[in-house]
Amino acid sequence: MAFVVAIDGPAGTGKGTVAKALAERTHFINIDTGAMYRCVTLECINNGISVQDEDKILQVLEKISINLEHQDGKQKVILNGKDVSQEIRTPEVDDMVAKFAALKIVRDKMTPLQRKMGEENNVIMEGRDIGTVVFPNADVKIFLDCSLEERSRRRYKQNLEKGIESNYQDVLKSIMERHKLETERKIAPFVKAEDAILVDSTNMTIDEVVDTIYSIIKSKIEEKNNGQSNN
Ligand code: DC
Repeated sequence: MAFVVAIDGPAGTGKGTVAKALAERTHFINIDTGAMYRCVTLECINNGISVQDEDKILQVLEKISINLEHQDGKQKVILNGKDVSQEIRTPEVDDMVAKFAALKIVRDKMTPLQRKMGEENNVIMEGRDIGTVVFPNADVKIFLDCSLEERSRRRYKQNLEKGIESNYQDVLKSIMERHKLETERKIAPFVKAEDAILVDSTNMTIDEVVDTIYSIIKSKIEEKNNGQSNN
């Protein structure tokens, strides 16, 4: 198996930015598993399929194609041949995605796809259940946390930068609702893996978070290499 770094954490911790920077430093591939759940959600929204209609969702899942492409240091999310990198980040998708991600049929399709990606490449894989379900034997497991207020503030600022209209209270409410759905769902609930290393980014800059995780990865790689050369 390749080298797998699992980074799990709630929305708005800066996970995406951190994973991207780590992928650049390590030359590993960054896999944003949240983007995959967002693709399923977007496809269902675009086809007027509600979260209750599991038969129709199954039909979508049977023919869905999701590709995470990496060009010039940027990740592109391709859904059924179309670049949806922006479309999957709208508040509409934000509000629905936790509901679709809670469905067993959806997770049963996404988890094996993610495992395959991690078996073929050295990866920095970010999500909610990477260290607990997708790769319980990941080489490095990080649980990236941050206070609810700071997460909401960061997400609100990101929206402003992207020209997406929102207000802080709505963002806070949406993040709280999603967090409740993600932590209370029956399948693959969002919890810290017992053996994950906790990094609390509330009072840290992105660079500090990247440096902290990078040094953990580096020492694990050295440990693994030494273990192999001693065998
Ligand atoms: O990280 P994000 O906000 O883009 O994730 C979008 C949604 O997908 C979020 O509601 C949690 C869910 N998700 C999940 O259930 N499991 C993952 N491995 C990644 C994301």
